[in-house]
Amino acid sequence: MAFFKFTISFMLLALLSARFSLAHPGIGFGWGGGSGQFGGGFHGLFPQFYQFSCPQVDDIVISVLQKAIAKEPRTAASLLRLHFHDCFVQGCDASVLLDDTATIVSEKNSLPNKNSLRGFEVIDEIKAKLEEACPHTVSCADIVALAARGSIVLSGGPSWELPLGRKDSKTASLSGSNNNIPPPNSTIQKLITSFKRQGLDEVDLVALSGGHTIGVARCVSFKQRLYNQNGNNQPDQTLERTYYYGLKSVCPRTGGDNNITPLDFASTVKFDNTYFQLILLGKGLLNSDEVLLTGNVGNIVKLVETFAVDEELFFNQFAQSMVKMGNINPLTGFNGEVRKNCRRVN
Ligand code: HEM
Repeated sequence: MAFFKFTISFMLLALLSARFSLAHPGIGFGWGGGSGQFGGGFHGLFPQFYQFSCPQVDDIVISVLQKAIAKEPRTAASLLRLHFHDCFVQGCDASVLLDDTATIVSEKNSLPNKNSLRGFEVIDEIKAKLEEACPHTVSCADIVALAARGSIVLSGGPSWELPLGRKDSKTASLSGSNNNIPPPNSTIQKLITSFKRQGLDEVDLVALSGGHTIGVARCVSFKQRLYNQNGNNQPDQTLERTYYYGLKSVCPRTGGDNNITPLDFASTVKFDNTYFQLILLGKGLLNSDEVLLTGNVGNIVKLVETFAVDEELFFNQFAQSMVKMGNINPLTGFNGEVRKNCRRVN
């Protein structure tokens, strides 16, 4: 048994470390140096995109984030989620930021986003500061990606070299938002399929679900588990008992849909690996969290177990999967535009 466990852990380590090397392409990047570091799906994005046009970009993003997160710690979580909801709908193109107009049907009113997605004012503030410092240069899509990374760092999580150069869309997709972002009651197969559609594999699914180590969810997002998991008026049997009773006190059978509770009650504002430890104890909040374990997909279960005991491995994989998610179908070059105001097309 011990040997079996060792072999499995070793294989996982080998798999993850091979992938990790991609997340940290190194600092020796040269302009067109032919190193190939950003080949293979990086779509022409590269970390030094604003090196000459807006060298202060990182400092400006971080200074706004520091203030916003100090004022309201949840902001970090909200900005991470904003990037996810942007990238899963027609790529990381800031489509999620567009407000309703005569020609735009905003994604903000989709099922996953309405009364739930937050952080727009922080993006507006970063954009306003950047327009002062480097007019018409930094795209809203890059701001969302930078804000997500900065939020992780300021919450105690990993950092990574972030490929930049995304342009902003001139369109939004309400139906894409409704269809591409998986709902919280998803089965493991649904989650795998939904991530696969975006070019993300099972390792990415587990690592990125670790984003739920910060932030909160509304009662309506997990109520089904408490009162009627399978249509038989019974709770989800995989919920640990004391945790279940605690959740019922936050989330009554009727009403209270907007009451909130932490996704990771062990350390709600700290980016760490306790999310995975809680899942192993039957204390994952959303169905989509707990099925990473109870869905019984071998590789996925092993990854949850591995990340629960090895925070460094989780951090490394999270960084790598964030780069991959951030590279979903960006607009580059002459496609798209750099919006002046992130809420509307120019
Ligand atoms: C695997 C599929 C996923 C599902 C089904 C899912 C679902 C949800 C739901 C239902 C909420 C609570 C929304 C509410 O009740 O208002 C939430 C919150 C959150 N999600 Fe996910 N999510 C998933 C993946 C991700 C990924 C990939 C990330 C980022 C890498 C992420 C980051 C977050 C964060 C940080 C919050 C808290 C936001 C806040 O407090 O404002 N989620 N998610």
